[in-house]
Amino acid sequence: MSSYKLLFVCLGNICRSPSAENIMNHLIEQAGLSDSIFCDSAGTSSYHIGSLPDRRMTVAAEHRGIILKGRARQFQKSDFEEFDLILAMDHQNYRDILSLDSGMKYLDKVRLMCEFAWHHSEQEVPDPYYGGSEGFNRVIDLLLDACEGLLQQVVKNEALRARP
Ligand code: 4NP
Repeated sequence: MSSYKLLFVCLGNICRSPSAENIMNHLIEQAGLSDSIFCDSAGTSSYHIGSLPDRRMTVAAEHRGIILKGRARQFQKSDFEEFDLILAMDHQNYRDILSLDSGMKYLDKVRLMCEFAWHHSEQEVPDPYYGGSEGFNRVIDLLLDACEGLLQQVVKNEALRARP
């Protein structure tokens, strides 16, 4: 069975989207679904291509037992075909992604990450880049919630089941 493919997208791909990718992978591993769901992340900008996740984000994630892996890359048009679901961290990311889809062919594949959160009412995952450590911790808390909701939704919709 081929994997269901999720792509998390923010501006720089060094704070929010790599956190979402690695948190989701953590939950997927716990659920025994690593063979069924594949995750990646990207940025709408080219600012940090090739960079490791931001050190402040890495520290905040480590406090919750999540190791951030990966290098930044830029979102590209081919990602629309490559992935089943594209999760934007904020409204600007959402607009920037869809600005590359002039025919609105992939509109249904692009969603806001916060739609999947159960315990947080935020509409966006706030950009922590120019703030203090509190903002990075908030990103992790919000993403843990949204990733749990997202995983439940994907399992339900795709009828994915953990293998013994
Ligand atoms: P991210 O955070 O989009 O969550 O990776 C940012 C990273 C870098 C910049 C802004 C936000 N920047 O302006 O360089």
